[in-house]
Amino acid sequence: MNDAPADPRLDGRAVRRIVYTEAEIAKRVRELGDQITSSYPDGDLLVLGLLKGSFIFLSDLVRSIKRPLHVDFLVAASYGDAVVSSGNVRLVYDPETVLQGKHILLVEDVVDSGRTLNHLMQLLSARSPRSLEICAFLHKHIAEHLSHPTKFVGFDAPNEFLVGYGLDHAENFRHLPYIASLKS
Ligand code: IMP
Ligand code: MG
Repeated sequence: MNDAPADPRLDGRAVRRIVYTEAEIAKRVRELGDQITSSYPDGDLLVLGLLKGSFIFLSDLVRSIKRPLHVDFLVAASYGDAVVSSGNVRLVYDPETVLQGKHILLVEDVVDSGRTLNHLMQLLSARSPRSLEICAFLHKHIAEHLSHPTKFVGFDAPNEFLVGYGLDHAENFRHLPYIASLKS
């Protein structure tokens, strides 16, 4: 548990600690890319990023997947500025791409309560994809009911409020190249 450096990106806000460094993240994302590459030997692969939280992870991840693929996005609103999940999930942007017959890999920043994913998986599986799996950068393993296991996980994360590498608090800190735990 290293002390957080004084980082001008934090605007004076204290972080408890750095949880995953930039180098640790890069190494793990390369491993995930290899795992995903070998999991899809054939067929059309559509990598579906859940915005906004997955945007940095997704952009690194797709560059480490060594097979053809397409990229699209979903926008689901659930949290607002609160640190506690409201459980309301609303689709704000729905991809126009046909999902039928394709391998769909839904990319999420973090599995917390799992409500967002449960809702989205139900919605996406109704569109008859060839396969439907989840790749989450972080998994807190606190969800009581997950309708679908998360096949690809970057890190088993502590149950703390985490920011950086796409994850925000009230839209701040998404651009940190590492994952930090926020002081509450
Ligand atoms: P869930 O539906 O509770 O699993 O969480 C849905 C969304 O909440 C995630 O995609 C994140 O955008 C956000 N979230 C959950 N935990 C954290 C966190 O520790 N930091 C920042 N955002 C979080
Ligand atoms: Mg968020």
